[in-house]
Amino acid sequence: MTNKELNLPMFSALMKYANEKNIPFHMPGHKMGKKIEQYIKENIFKIDVTEIPGTDNLFYPEECINDAQKLASLAFGSDKTYFLVNGASGGLHSIILTMAKPGEKIIVNRDCHKSVINGMILAGVEPVYISSELIKDFSIPGEVSVDALKRAIVENKDAKAVLITSPNYYGVVSNIKEIANITHENNMILAVDEAHGTHLNFSKKLPNSAITEGADICVQSAHKTLPSITQTAYLHVKGTRIDLDMLEFNIRMIHTTSPSYVFLVFLDYARAVMEAEGEKTLDSLLINLDKLIEEVQKMKNFNILTEKFVIDGDFDKTKIVINVSKSGKSGYEIEKILRSNYKIQIEMSDPNNILAIVTVGDNEESILKLIDALKAINNEFNQTNKKADIYNIENNFPIRRELTLKDAYLKKWKKINIDEAIGMISKEIITPYPPGVPLLCPGELVTKEIVKYIKMIIENGGTINGVDENYEIKVIES
Ligand SMILES: Cc1ncc(COP(=O)(O)O)c(C=O)c1O
Repeated sequence: MTNKELNLPMFSALMKYANEKNIPFHMPGHKMGKKIEQYIKENIFKIDVTEIPGTDNLFYPEECINDAQKLASLAFGSDKTYFLVNGASGGLHSIILTMAKPGEKIIVNRDCHKSVINGMILAGVEPVYISSELIKDFSIPGEVSVDALKRAIVENKDAKAVLITSPNYYGVVSNIKEIANITHENNMILAVDEAHGTHLNFSKKLPNSAITEGADICVQSAHKTLPSITQTAYLHVKGTRIDLDMLEFNIRMIHTTSPSYVFLVFLDYARAVMEAEGEKTLDSLLINLDKLIEEVQKMKNFNILTEKFVIDGDFDKTKIVINVSKSGKSGYEIEKILRSNYKIQIEMSDPNNILAIVTVGDNEESILKLIDALKAINNEFNQTNKKADIYNIENNFPIRRELTLKDAYLKKWKKINIDEAIGMISKEIITPYPPGVPLLCPGELVTKEIVKYIKMIIENGGTINGVDENYEIKVIES
C-alpha cells in the first residue's frame, strides 16, 4: 500500500515540511540527515534490535555498549559516560534524584529548563533560585550570576548541590571554573545542564565544556548539536563526588526498559564523527560565522549577540542570536518571513530575537543564504521603527513562591481565565516553548506583569505551554 492509500497525518505533515526543502537552522544537529552516512541510513531496521546475545544491555553494559560508552568518556574527557535515550531531560531527572533527598535543597538558576523543575518535583527537592545576568540589549538571560550564587550559598549552607544551565539556549556560557571552585569550597556538587553544548569539546575555538572546567556531572543533548537522532543524550561524570551506584539506579528507574538500539548507535556514531572531523568542520564554519557577524553588524535594523555582551562568561558562536526589534517586527514575524520568503527555518524566536543553530550539518552555502536573506529583510524594513518599544520588556520578573513544588503538585486545581488568575497560585509550569524556560512554576503567584507578558507573546504569534486556546490556566484551588 502506498502512503496515498493510507491515512498517515504525521507522515504527511513531516514529508510536506521535508519536501519544501527549507534550510534547517534548527535541531536535530544532523540537519535532515545531511550529516548521516549512507551505511547508517540503509541499516536502520537491522540495528533496531533488543537485548539478545551479542548486543549487550544498556543498564548492565559489558560488551559493545560498554566499549562505546568508554570511547565517549575518552572523547568528552569524563571519568564515566552514560548513554541516555530519553534526552537530557531524563538525565537531569536522574541527576537531581542522585544529588539530594526529599526535602533537601539544591541551588538552581531560575531560568532553567522545565525538565529541571520536573526533576525537582519528582525528587521532592526544594530549589533555592538564583538569577542570571540579564543581557539588556536582547532582553534575554545571560550567564549565571556568580554573586547571586555566593549569596545563595552563604544563606543556604545546607544545600546539597548547585545545578546550572550552561550554555543557555542563546549560547551564553557561564564562568564554570569559578562556579566550580565556589561550589566545591562549600562541599557541594556542581551539576551542569549542558544540553546545548555537546559540540563544545570538539573545537578549541569554542568555550570549554563544563567537565573540562570542573563540573562533577553534566548532561548533554546529542541531538541538539551533533549528528544524532532526537532523544539521544550523554551523561558525564568526573571525580568522586557523585554516588555512581545511586546514579545508575536512578538512570535505570527513569528510563524505558526497552532502550532503542538505533538511538544508542547514533550516540556512538556522533562521537566517532565528531572525533574524526568535528574540529575541522566546526573551525571552518566558525570562519563563515565570523563573516555573518560582520555582515549583520552592518545592518541597521539588526543587532547580533557576541561575546562582548557577556560580562562574566563566554559565548558559543554556533548560536546566531539576532535582535530584530529595530525593524519594527517581532522575532516571531521575522521567523515567518524567513520561512515563507527565503525557505529558511530557524530554531526559535522570541518577542525581540531570532535564534538559528549551526552544527556540523551546515556548510558555507547555508550560512551565505542566511546572510543574503537577512540583508534583504533589513533593507525591506528600513523605515519602520514603531513597535520597538513594545517588546522592550525585561523578562526577569520577580518570582513569588507561595508553596513548595511538591505541595503545589499535590494540590487540587481548577482552570480559570488568565486575567482572573492574577493573585492566585499556578498549578502548572507555564513556559514559552521553545525555549522551555518557565515564566511560572507550580506554587508561584500569578502576577499582573507575568500575565501581561504571556498575553503579549501569544498575541505576537508565540506559543506558551500551560495556557490553553481560551486563555485559561490551571491554578491551585483555595
Ligand atoms: C537548557 C535545556 N536543558 C534541557 C533540555 C532537555 O533536553 P532534551 O530535549 O534532550 O530532553 C532542553 C531542551 O530544549 C534545554 O533547552
